[in-house]
Amino acid sequence: MTENDFKAKSYTNFPESGKVGWKAPSNIALVKYWGKKANQIPANPSISFTLDACATTTQVSFSRKEIDSDDFSFELLFEGKPKEDFKPKIQTFLERIEPYLPFLKKYHFAIETSNSFPHSSGIASSASGMSALALCFLSIEHKIQHMEADFFTKKASFLARLGSGSACRSIEGDLVQWGKYEGIEGSSDLYGVRCPYEVHPIFKNYHDTILLVHKGQKQVSSTVGHNLMHNHPYAEKRFEQAHTNLDKLKPILAEGNLEAFMEVVESEALTLHAMMMTSMPYFILMMPDTLEIINKLWAFRRATKTPICFTLDAGANVHVLYPDSVKEKAIQFIQDELVAHCENGHYICDQIGTGAKKFFEE
Ligand code: DP6
Repeated sequence: MTENDFKAKSYTNFPESGKVGWKAPSNIALVKYWGKKANQIPANPSISFTLDACATTTQVSFSRKEIDSDDFSFELLFEGKPKEDFKPKIQTFLERIEPYLPFLKKYHFAIETSNSFPHSSGIASSASGMSALALCFLSIEHKIQHMEADFFTKKASFLARLGSGSACRSIEGDLVQWGKYEGIEGSSDLYGVRCPYEVHPIFKNYHDTILLVHKGQKQVSSTVGHNLMHNHPYAEKRFEQAHTNLDKLKPILAEGNLEAFMEVVESEALTLHAMMMTSMPYFILMMPDTLEIINKLWAFRRATKTPICFTLDAGANVHVLYPDSVKEKAIQFIQDELVAHCENGHYICDQIGTGAKKFFEE
């Protein structure tokens, strides 16, 4: 499919008003997206676990403008209160998606949104936030013009990508792959697809405990970090490596080879941060407690042979991944040894989930 396939045919029937609501999950990448081309096209393919507990719930009420105008009209409530500083991001998102949703300037939108996790937790809310919003706008288009379920899912992911790259992996469940990759037929730079690999049951109920090492604002945004991959001395090798790691994951996921899984996932996390440390300007997002956690986790794994590993996103927080079969042991270890390294002792227990859900439509 091409970008043009997502352009709507001309509309005839505009509802006066209505309301739609979606709850969309976050995700954690196993093979990381880091580096992009124009129009939110990723420099390399990535794959992620969809997370269940870290979600954004968004409702959009829409009403026909009394007088047509050439601007976007919206108001925004975040956790029940007006939130001016979110508005520029939404304005940019509307500008990017308008060619594909040409009804947007005909309506006034009242957007109400909230997260299941604290905004100041340092957890990226852009994936769940942008996918929930994309789904709401697309549901409004669906009321104007019918579309098939498969097309709806693809277009939702396509629109979410224009808000935040990783958001395109937050529409469907379990394992989602985004970016053109030879090993998956139908994979695309334009949207995420549910991983068609055979997946061993050990990965079905995987857990992710997110250790909140630093809850403040990141010093360097992901968008700035992605751009530093242009002219990065190791960029081409890194982009190639993402393909190789996806190749490696295919049999690992099918056979449930946890040793090999942990190796790929941890190597990806450290490579992501190595790219940050070797870009110009260089920066470090890990903190002393991030490294303490990693070292303690490795020592525990060596000593107990428990299949528990870590991954990182673009921040200091650590995602601790483990299968359901070692849940009690892992949580005990986290509470005894790792929570002391979290800001105010805060952490979030999450697990691989089923994807976004519509909860309201009128
Ligand atoms: C490190 O999707 O937040 O989490 O497209 O600029 O919004 P933008 O970036 P974003 O980048 C996520 C980077 C990452 C890795 C990943 O999720 O694959």
